[in-house]
Amino acid sequence: MDIKKRFIISNTITAIVPVIITVITISGFLFVSSKFLGMDMNYDGFKKNVLIRSELVAIRNDILKQNIENVEETKFQENLSQQISSLNGKFIIIKEHKIIANPNNINKIDIEKCMELVEKNKMDKKIVIDRISYMVEVININSKDNAAISLILLAPIGEDISLLNKLIIAAIVVYIISFIITNMIMSYLFSKRIIKPIKDLKKATIEISTGNLNCEIIEDGDKEIQELCHGFEAMRVQLKDSITMKMKYDDNRKVLISSISHDLKTPITSIKGYVEGILDGVANTQEKRKNYLKTIYSKAEHIDHMIDDLLLYSKLDLNQIPFNFEKTDIIEYFNYCVYEIEPELIKNNIKIQLKNDLKTCKYVMIDRERMRRVILNIIGNSCKYMDKEQGEITLNLRETNSSIIIEIRDNGSGIDNDDINKIFYRFYRSDTARSGAKGSGLGLSIAKQIVEGHKGRIWAVSHGDEGTSIMISLGKVMGNKQVEN
Ligand SMILES: Nc1ncnc2c1ncn2[C@@H]1O[C@H](COP(=O)(O)OP(=O)(O)OP(=O)(O)O)[C@@H](O)[C@H]1O
Ligand SMILES: [Mg+2]
Repeated sequence: MDIKKRFIISNTITAIVPVIITVITISGFLFVSSKFLGMDMNYDGFKKNVLIRSELVAIRNDILKQNIENVEETKFQENLSQQISSLNGKFIIIKEHKIIANPNNINKIDIEKCMELVEKNKMDKKIVIDRISYMVEVININSKDNAAISLILLAPIGEDISLLNKLIIAAIVVYIISFIITNMIMSYLFSKRIIKPIKDLKKATIEISTGNLNCEIIEDGDKEIQELCHGFEAMRVQLKDSITMKMKYDDNRKVLISSISHDLKTPITSIKGYVEGILDGVANTQEKRKNYLKTIYSKAEHIDHMIDDLLLYSKLDLNQIPFNFEKTDIIEYFNYCVYEIEPELIKNNIKIQLKNDLKTCKYVMIDRERMRRVILNIIGNSCKYMDKEQGEITLNLRETNSSIIIEIRDNGSGIDNDDINKIFYRFYRSDTARSGAKGSGLGLSIAKQIVEGHKGRIWAVSHGDEGTSIMISLGKVMGNKQVEN
């Protein structure tokens, strides 16, 4: 739910619920009081009281209109009695503080109460006589002889009107209390969905600012708050990743520098040794000197080759070498690779063959020059680490739904299963490789970067002593589009 909606709902509930509670409470009270306590406190009762009051006022106005000669006259009193009888009422006539007519024999104390009401001129003129509530109307007139006359009219009412007033007060109290309670509940719910998540978010940002990037921000609360938390969480993850990446790069750089220093030191040390041998006269014959110089040259070439590889590796690592992708017929391409390398392999007594199991697709998007370097390095390794008299290399092309798989399998010395993934690390060389064939240990890590630059994958499968397979998977090209690998 969004905050705007929550505001609207919360305010509506705060306004409506107290009204409903008040109505239910008052109706319940009216129901109980009329059903079980015998109090006729309902709308009809209220209406009846209003009618009685208006009836009394009508009688009053009627009397005031008449030119009354003498209130003691029986005719006047009969007339009055008739009028008030429609309300089942009673009347008392007082002249100069003396009761001159009391046809219903109302006792003196009650008459006193009526007089008091008249004197106090109360708005709410009511009196209870014999447990019955009467509405009182007083008419003050002067007789001919200027005597003060009060006509007191009494009309019975079903209920004590003050109860109605109390009921109104009770309704207001119930409304206020229920309003406060509803408001408190709504504020609590509101704070739970908005203020609490904001507080949690604030806590998390403080943690992040102090460097703790592991405190996950939970997406809680209303839509906008959730979106805010989501944004902060994405920021935290991004920050964490970039810091981890930076640390990884720093570590990599340290390892790289130590590996370069180590790998360059070995040929340089031997160059120094040979140069000293010449200078000290250890190479005392023409032939010895020639051999020493040949070794120095080959070591210098090795360093040169290593530096070239390093430069290429770091350029690929920094994405500084653009790839020139072309739609390529893979069978034609590998036929050419085989044709190019075959003479060199034959010299080393190694047979090479291409097996094509492709059925539906034969196109891939590759940078021909860079991919050539990958293939030549892999075949070069098969050649370098070949320990069988008759070497065999098989290039096998097959396909899955989305990719073309290139397998380059040899029957060379093989790689231990435990080391199979390490061969793609920079500067990794097995102990036998270090002691035997020349190399910098960068060939396969460069191959990995190039293949990954093609959005492909490269991995190795060990066949124990029987050799090794290097596998490359590349996305198929359907029409002119490359399928995700
Ligand atoms: N076909 C293979 N058979 C056996 N061992 C292999 C094979 N290919 C790679 N290796 C092992 O993996 C290591 C890494 O190979 P990589 O091509 O990266 O380096 P390299 O051949 O030693 O040096 P260079 O940088 O000149 O290629 C090799 O030193 C070797 O121990
Ligand atoms: Mg190699």
